[in-house]
This record gives sequence, structure tokens and C-alpha cells, in this order.
Amino acid sequence: MSDILLQIDGKKVEAKPGMTILQAAQSAGIVIPTLCHHEKLESYGACRICTVEVEARGRTNLVAACLYPVEKNLVVTTRSETVDKIRRTILELLLAHAPGAPALQELAREYGAKEARFEKEASFCILCGLCVRYCAEVKKKNAIAFVDQGAKREINFIPEIAAKECWRCKECFPLCPTSYLQAAYFLTEGLAFPPSSASEK
Ligand code: SF4
Ligand code: FES
Repeated sequence: MSDILLQIDGKKVEAKPGMTILQAAQSAGIVIPTLCHHEKLESYGACRICTVEVEARGRTNLVAACLYPVEKNLVVTTRSETVDKIRRTILELLLAHAPGAPALQELAREYGAKEARFEKEASFCILCGLCVRYCAEVKKKNAIAFVDQGAKREINFIPEIAAKECWRCKECFPLCPTSYLQAAYFLTEGLAFPPSSASEK
């Protein structure tokens, strides 16, 4: 199939059919921030920090760049007053959950987000799902899972699987945009399977 021509920030970009706006932008060296995206994982659309403006068939919409497929003649704007405002608000909400997280603070500086705007509800996990999905989709181990719903939703290591698999892997650790994943692992390890017993399994 022939390439699809679209425009991103005024630049003509050729993309393969089936690519997302995020992939097309990345192929052209245009940076769109992400917090729940990983190139080895299915798109998830949880954080919405990748929101961009698209114009197609005379209409302008806000869409998640990591989910939205490229289309012929699409006009994409990755930075505008509206886009920046959305990203700023998202970051302020996330910082209330994970105050001090370096990945969030770096983006907060870029978008002028204020850490103190919303009342802190520090859970330290922003529910991006990178750890859960990486373990399931790439490692095929399912050692981490989401538990509960709504405000109580959180990630948990499954001790029986984690005891056997995680001590020699830990590939998910650097993916976490906050420090919660490592803390959750060491807590599970300390409570459910002391390190010396885990490595013997
Ligand atoms: S522990 Fe980290 S990687 Fe896992 S869902 Fe929470 S923020 Fe994302
Ligand atoms: S990176 Fe697109 S929704 Fe999170």
C-alpha cells in the first residue's frame, strides 16, 4: 500500500498505513510527550498527555496521538494554546498523585504546570499500566496486575509469580514514570518472599 501524506506542525510527513500520529511524528523527529506509551506494547490511551489537534474534513478535534491512525491530508498540530492547557492540567492532576516524580516534573517545567494546584492524594502510581502491560505482553508472565476499581485502583505484584520471575528480570523498573513500582516490588518481596528464598526457586 502506498504511503499516506499528512502534515504535522506544518511539515509534510509520509507515513505507512496503520501508523498512529505518534509513530508518524516520531518518524519525522517531532516530539509528542507520552506517559503510557511503549513501542513494544499495544496502545493504551490512559494518560492523554499525547493529546494533539487534528483537522480533517473541515473539523478540528482533540485526539490521543498514540491511538489515532494517520489519514490522508490530516493536519496535525502538536503544540497550541489548547493542547498545552490540556497537558498542563493533566500534569497537575498527576503530580497530585505522584508529587516529586522526576518524569512528571520535567514535563511540568515544559508546560508550566504547578505541583500545588490540586490537593495531594499521593498514591505514587499514575496507573499508566506500563508495568502491568510489559509483564503481560512482552514477558508473558503476568506478575503484576491491576486490582480494585475507581479511586482504589492500584497495581499489585502477584507474590507466587513474582517470587519465581521478578528477581532475575526487573525490566519493568525503568519504565515506571514514578518510583512506585520499585517500592511496590520491594514491599512484596519483603513481606511475601525474602530475596534469598526467591533466587533459589
Ligand atoms: S507502578 Fe509505575 S509503571 Fe506501573 S502503573 Fe503505576 S506508574 Fe505506571
Ligand atoms: S501516551 Fe497517549 S494516552 Fe498516554
